[in-house]
Amino acid sequence: MHVHAILAAIPLERDAATPLFRQLYLRMKEAILSGAVQPTVRLPATRELGRLLKVSRQTVLAAYEQLMAEGYLEGAVGKGTFVSASLPAAARRSAPPDAAPPLVRPLSARGEAMASAMARVRHHDGPLRTFRMSMPGLDLFPFEVWRKLEARHWRRREVPLGYGGAAGHPPLRELLCAYLKASRGVRCMPEQIVITNGSQQALYLLAQLLLAPGEGVWLESPGYQGALAPFAVAGAKICPVPVDAEGMDVAYAAARYPDARMAFATPSHQLPLGATMSLARRLELLRWAEAKRAWIVEDDYDSEYRYTGPPLASLQGLDRANCVIYVGTLSKVLFPGLRLGYVVAPPALAAPLARAKAVVDRHSPIVPQAVLADFIQEGHFARHIRRTRDAYGERRIAMLEALDSRMRGLLACGPSDAGLDLCVGLMNGLGEEEAVARASAAGVDVRSLSYYVNPAAGPDCAVPPGMLLGFSAFTPAQIRAGVRRLEQALSA
Ligand SMILES: Cc1ncc(COP(=O)(O)O)c(C=O)c1O
Repeated sequence: MHVHAILAAIPLERDAATPLFRQLYLRMKEAILSGAVQPTVRLPATRELGRLLKVSRQTVLAAYEQLMAEGYLEGAVGKGTFVSASLPAAARRSAPPDAAPPLVRPLSARGEAMASAMARVRHHDGPLRTFRMSMPGLDLFPFEVWRKLEARHWRRREVPLGYGGAAGHPPLRELLCAYLKASRGVRCMPEQIVITNGSQQALYLLAQLLLAPGEGVWLESPGYQGALAPFAVAGAKICPVPVDAEGMDVAYAAARYPDARMAFATPSHQLPLGATMSLARRLELLRWAEAKRAWIVEDDYDSEYRYTGPPLASLQGLDRANCVIYVGTLSKVLFPGLRLGYVVAPPALAAPLARAKAVVDRHSPIVPQAVLADFIQEGHFARHIRRTRDAYGERRIAMLEALDSRMRGLLACGPSDAGLDLCVGLMNGLGEEEAVARASAAGVDVRSLSYYVNPAAGPDCAVPPGMLLGFSAFTPAQIRAGVRRLEQALSA
């Protein structure tokens, strides 16, 4: 059936409590996910679809904008709107013949938004291949130490095994507080720390607590796709902000979205371009937030790993207006499956945040928190950071040298002074999709830069063709072998 006919047949309930734009958005999303409307198909202009459905153009525009923000549609003013070509196949559910019977009632609007919000976020699973990005080197993790600490807990059973406080295991909050003060320049008291299940849960709770539907949030573009989902689910207006060598372009954002209520940024190490936010930009961002009484969410996910000097102090440490919310994770410094992260909340936000966390899951599991507390207390954490920083430093050098000797002219390296990944530009005219497909066929995992571009972003946020390569999880020998394969794949 032609796309016009499919969309024109969308039933809209004019007396329902759900606004028309929301009904349209949900039905269109269903049509895309079910495969009824295929990737790359051009959609009718907003005015035309409004006429077909007998709704205002504004209604159609609002539905298109939401679908764009979530990555289902792409396009630009004047150029038309298309179903996203990069929607992962896994996100589309073309019903197999023996599919489960349909739900007795459709999901709620909120349920639909939640169930589809992570469709754009790709996780690599399966065997670890060079150069899977953002993965810590598990070969360096002291599993035996962790096992002994955990066994000791089960033997002694000193931690309460009933319900605990929603903000987390108190000794862990104290130890993290001391660590963050000493190593990240964070200004905090243990009462400000709320332990979460990874930074993902922190972002979800913060979006729910602090943003009303329609309120704007600045997001770096290209930027972290995991952050988009919680803000989209909260119904926030996604405001994509370009990034340059100094980090998020604050002047651009302040001029274009002056009334946004929140900025989400990765100042220590921008994902994916690798820039560190300059001091001038940090001060500019803080000035804007202070003047507008807006929030800044600082995602400090991998700042322990800086190779050309000591780790940089956090943005939170410069904040005098209590507008910065610092979010950290153990996913990079230990491992992602641990699912532990934390928020350093401004003092008055800590209690509401903990109470919101209790609504979701009461609190994070106690034993892993207690094991982590011992791991920190007994010096293993600091040792592991030192050890991995040294090892990743060597892996980074191996990567830079191998790329320089084999792929000069093919790839241009971006900043490499921090983090677990290296951003490279494609220099030989190969398109990103082609490069990623060739690398994958040669057994090498790379991720295209365009994956990180916010679907709602316009030409101001365009990035040249490039890829992200992770080096931290691989030995120098594996890195050299991976670069060899990558070179053969891309120069073939
Ligand atoms: C920018 C950024 N923030 C945070 C995380 C970690 O998220 P979580 O703590 O939910 O594992 C990642 C992981 O890839 C990331 O790239």
